[in-house]
Amino acid sequence: MTEQDFILKSYNSNIDKGSVKWASPSNIALVKYWGKKAHQIPENPSISFTLSDCKTITEMTYIKKDNQGFSFDIYFEGEKNEAFKPKIQTFFERIEIYMPFLKDYHFKIETSNTFPHSSGIASSASGMSAIALCLMSIEKELSVPESDNVEFQDYFNQKASFLARLGSGSACRSIEGELVVWGKNESIVGSSDLYGVKFEGDVHANFKNYQDTILLVDKGEKQVSSTVGHQLMYGHPFATKRFAQAHDNLAKLKTILASGDLNAFIKIVESEALTLHAMMMTSMPYFILMKPNTLEIINKIWAFREKTDSKICFTLDAGANVHVLYPEKEKDDVLQFIKNELANYCQNGHYICDQIGHGANQI
Ligand code: DP6
Repeated sequence: MTEQDFILKSYNSNIDKGSVKWASPSNIALVKYWGKKAHQIPENPSISFTLSDCKTITEMTYIKKDNQGFSFDIYFEGEKNEAFKPKIQTFFERIEIYMPFLKDYHFKIETSNTFPHSSGIASSASGMSAIALCLMSIEKELSVPESDNVEFQDYFNQKASFLARLGSGSACRSIEGELVVWGKNESIVGSSDLYGVKFEGDVHANFKNYQDTILLVDKGEKQVSSTVGHQLMYGHPFATKRFAQAHDNLAKLKTILASGDLNAFIKIVESEALTLHAMMMTSMPYFILMKPNTLEIINKIWAFREKTDSKICFTLDAGANVHVLYPEKEKDDVLQFIKNELANYCQNGHYICDQIGHGANQI
């Protein structure tokens, strides 16, 4: 598929109004996307677990209008929200060529998250993918003839992911589950820089219902936005090596997912998390995104692993919160450990229990 294939050629302009609604999940990268080229093309491939319960629920109502230009209102958790508007405006500008009907309608976008707003969890992946999916459902309603075969479903998901990417890179990995690859990589057939693809390789039973407990170390605004962080990879002294390493780690992870080798899984996942932070520490300007409690938690996880032979491990996004990953069969023991030993390091003792999910669904 190329960009051209995603341009909607014709649509039924007699439909006056309608409404669609989607719930779309967040995702957590195992091999990290960090660094991008123009038009939201990633510098390296990434792979993520789709989450199950951390979701954005978005309803989009569309009403025909006469005037030119984009017209939309956003309501976040029931209240009109002006702060989100510039991001959506930019998003509409980027995707207009692929959805020529955008200027024909006024859109009311009503959105809410299943996780607390001030949790420090990035909602851009779930938020942008939910809007992209709503727009695809509207495209489907306006399409002549409306089609419902398997091929169309593939196109629907690919274009939804393609659009979501233009809103926020990692959002393109939130359409499907349970594992999604984004970015061209030789070991993954069908992988693309333009959209995420469901990981179709073998996945060992060890990874079934894999758990992710998100420890909320810092609920504040991120010190550096991801967008600024990505830019710091331009001219970064270690960039070339890092991008090559991500290709390598993805190929290795493919084998590990099939074999179920949890020790090898831990090595890649923790190394990816620390490398992401190392890139931020070694860029110019430089940043430390971890907090003292992030390190306390990492050390406790390592000590617990040493002591109990558990296969618990951690990953991080571009902030201080810790995602604790572990097999489902360890759920009781690990949750007890988190409650007893890690919750103290979380802001107000807060953490969110989630697990691998199957992707977005229409409501
Ligand atoms: C550290 O997708 O938030 O979470 O494309 O600028 O919107 P933009 O960035 P974003 O970056 C996410 C970076 C990450 C790693 C990852 O999810 O792969």
